[in-house]
Amino acid sequence: MMETHRDEAKPGGGAREPRPRSRNGSESRANSEPAAERGRALASCKVAVVGAGKLGEALLGGLLGNKSVLAENVVATAAHRSRTQAVAKKFHIRTELQNRAAIEGADLILLTVKPQTVEEVLLEIRESLRETQLVVSSVASVSTAHLEKIIGRRIPVVRAMPNTPCVIGAGMTGLCAGRYVSKDDMELAQQVFDCLGRTVLVDEKHMDAVTALSASGPAYIYMVIESLAEGGVKMGLPREVATQLAAQTLLGAARMVLETGEHPALLKDTVTTPAGCTIDGILELEEGGLRVTLIKAVVRATQRAKELLRG
Ligand SMILES: NC(=O)c1ccc[n+]([C@@H]2O[C@H](COP(=O)([O-])OP(=O)(O)OC[C@H]3O[C@@H](n4cnc5c(N)ncnc54)[C@H](OP(=O)(O)O)[C@@H]3O)[C@@H](O)[C@H]2O)c1
Repeated sequence: MMETHRDEAKPGGGAREPRPRSRNGSESRANSEPAAERGRALASCKVAVVGAGKLGEALLGGLLGNKSVLAENVVATAAHRSRTQAVAKKFHIRTELQNRAAIEGADLILLTVKPQTVEEVLLEIRESLRETQLVVSSVASVSTAHLEKIIGRRIPVVRAMPNTPCVIGAGMTGLCAGRYVSKDDMELAQQVFDCLGRTVLVDEKHMDAVTALSASGPAYIYMVIESLAEGGVKMGLPREVATQLAAQTLLGAARMVLETGEHPALLKDTVTTPAGCTIDGILELEEGGLRVTLIKAVVRATQRAKELLRG
């Protein structure tokens, strides 16, 4: 599993202290427990994954695969029986077509439906939600304020933007807290995604950019890997070898950035021997507009994330 990381000092991000959650006078036992107690509790947490599609499956695969949660404590829902059956078969967990039945008794509700479906799902479950439950929404584009408004009650909602490499413990998740989220709630949410890779706390205004960069990002990088491999194939390498060379090179370069803390430009310079071959490759990339293309991809996907709810 990858080392976890909490980027609490980045401009515009960092750990926004979650607002204390009103409990109408007395604090609940769960909420007054020290963080470590809640931490230990994750293994025994009852978890409902509402909308177990591609992302839900990645989260289930990661959490069950590394035994952060127990299969008997997990339930997942989908819209179609064929999907619930496939998920039940793959993970040996209980599945439901009824979201209400699924969230009954859950401590943690991972909401992984599409933006267009989230209102319908929340309207279905809102009466059944309890203040002691934590809703973690990975639904793109939908703000915590909007989710809270649909729910219409003081239910803690954390917004998370993970990515599919969570399934192998190499995920990247941006997190931000809603109005009724306590420090313990936030720590529990963070624990979930720390188990699946790295986490970063960001201000909610940055969530669309996180969506465009790290949630969509694996798709961009698969294209980069595919293209580098094609280059190798063009030069006569067997495809499998070329793909392995490309993928491991991406992985190594990414780890160099994360583990050395060096600026990528400096790391690039260490590979670029004067009058060597790398500089010729770089010249091609610059002529092809690699940088501007990637920057524009993130900008465009961020704009799209802002529009998603409108369909
Ligand atoms: N995919 C990613 O890499 C990724 C990364 C970060 C965030 N997200 C976010 O995660 C969400 C899901 O994306 P996805 O790619 O996983 O989409 P997806 O594969 O289409 O999954 C959506 C799931 O929701 C289920 N669903 C639909 N209506 C439902 C209802 N009324 N009750 C319960 N379940 C219902 C669908 O069930 P059926 O299969 O039976 O139709 C489907 O399994 C989106 O908001 C997306 O922005 C995705």
